[in-house]
Amino acid sequence: MSTSPEAVDDATDDATDDATDALKPDDVVVDTVVHQAPRDVANAPKLLEVEHLVKHFAVREVRGLSMLRSSVKAVDDISFVVREGESLGLVGESGCGKSTTSRLITRLEDPTSGAIRFRGQDMALMKEKELRPLRREVQMIFQDPYSSLNPRQTVGTILRTPLDVHGLAKGREKARTKELLELVGLNPEHINRYPSEFSGGQRQRIGIARALAVEPRLIIADEPVSALDVSIQAQVMNLLARLREELNLSFLFIAHDLGVIRHFCDSIAVMYLGKIVEKGWKRDIYSAPQHPYTQALLSAAPDINVVRGVPPRERIRLKGDPPSPIDPPSGCRFRTRCWKAQDICAKVEPPLELKESSGLDQVIACHFPEVKTSLVAEVS
Ligand SMILES: Nc1ncnc2c1ncn2[C@@H]1O[C@H](COP(=O)(O)OP(=O)(O)OP(=O)(O)O)[C@@H](O)[C@H]1O
Ligand code: SF4
Ligand SMILES: [Mg+2]
Repeated sequence: MSTSPEAVDDATDDATDDATDALKPDDVVVDTVVHQAPRDVANAPKLLEVEHLVKHFAVREVRGLSMLRSSVKAVDDISFVVREGESLGLVGESGCGKSTTSRLITRLEDPTSGAIRFRGQDMALMKEKELRPLRREVQMIFQDPYSSLNPRQTVGTILRTPLDVHGLAKGREKARTKELLELVGLNPEHINRYPSEFSGGQRQRIGIARALAVEPRLIIADEPVSALDVSIQAQVMNLLARLREELNLSFLFIAHDLGVIRHFCDSIAVMYLGKIVEKGWKRDIYSAPQHPYTQALLSAAPDINVVRGVPPRERIRLKGDPPSPIDPPSGCRFRTRCWKAQDICAKVEPPLELKESSGLDQVIACHFPEVKTSLVAEVS
């Protein structure tokens, strides 16, 4: 795999960084994201199993003159598996429950119900002491590289803290923090700098190094590039792809559109208003989406349809915003925005199931699924 694109970052933002000299930002375009080698994860052992996971937040709502207790159905009975070495993309609009899912898996939030099994052990009900060894194996990369790093700590301290917490690299902590900086394409001599002395892309690399410090098996990446400039996004995605291959990592990669994860993920789960509506292998989801919501997301992903210069044959524009998760629509939650909705859609919730007639491998929650191949110009 090429080393040059990911070894550089934000050259304009920090001209003093030795590691940023090799390539100018203008040389990088989003569509150059490196393709990983063909991967066979379908038969790998299960690393993470999420089963019937639910998170309802208790809230108070003002209705007229009264204050009522209600609940936000942020995550409402979702199930999925991430296998060893697999990257699963979790995609959906703002507010559909992606970050809540990631916070449940890392146990930053307690689930209302459901199971979260890591290597077969259910983490959902574990106490903090039992969780500690698993916390080392499951690490998060956050969306915002500005707020996720303590501005008063040097990079060396930021990277050393997880080593101390887990008793790792004893006696060689400084050498290990330098190794981590090198691993993510940053200058190891910069360990005494503060986060404010780095550009956005470089800070995200520090966040990645911090996650890798404890040698995790699974990375939960919650929109790790969406706060970055578009030219930097490709470089950070390349870095993640390289690290995934080198360290044999698994990923739950959260994104709000299907464009950014196109080259990165092996499989995709599409979420709408707390539910998974379609799930399958990447190639099937991109080339033959069956749920109307997946089709709308795919049609809206700009770099899929435009960058290659071949216009798609069909575009779908979704109207309005998703309804409130406090009072989601009856039956199919997507029905208030679906152009195919019929009476049954309001009455019966469609189960997430394999539609054998399609001959494809994905599961879909829709009464009237239909394969659409007219949305993408080219699938890689
Ligand atoms: N602590 C909380 N209390 C009440 N409601 C919450 C809480 N945390 C999240 N929510 C609500 O749960 C729903 C899902 O939120 P979540 O942050 O998981 O969405 P998301 O898919 O990550 O959105 P985005 O793409 O904007 O990050 C939203 O309606 C949100 O307002
Ligand atoms: S179940 Fe009905 S409303 Fe829901 S996505 Fe399918 S056709 Fe649309
Ligand atoms: Mg979020």
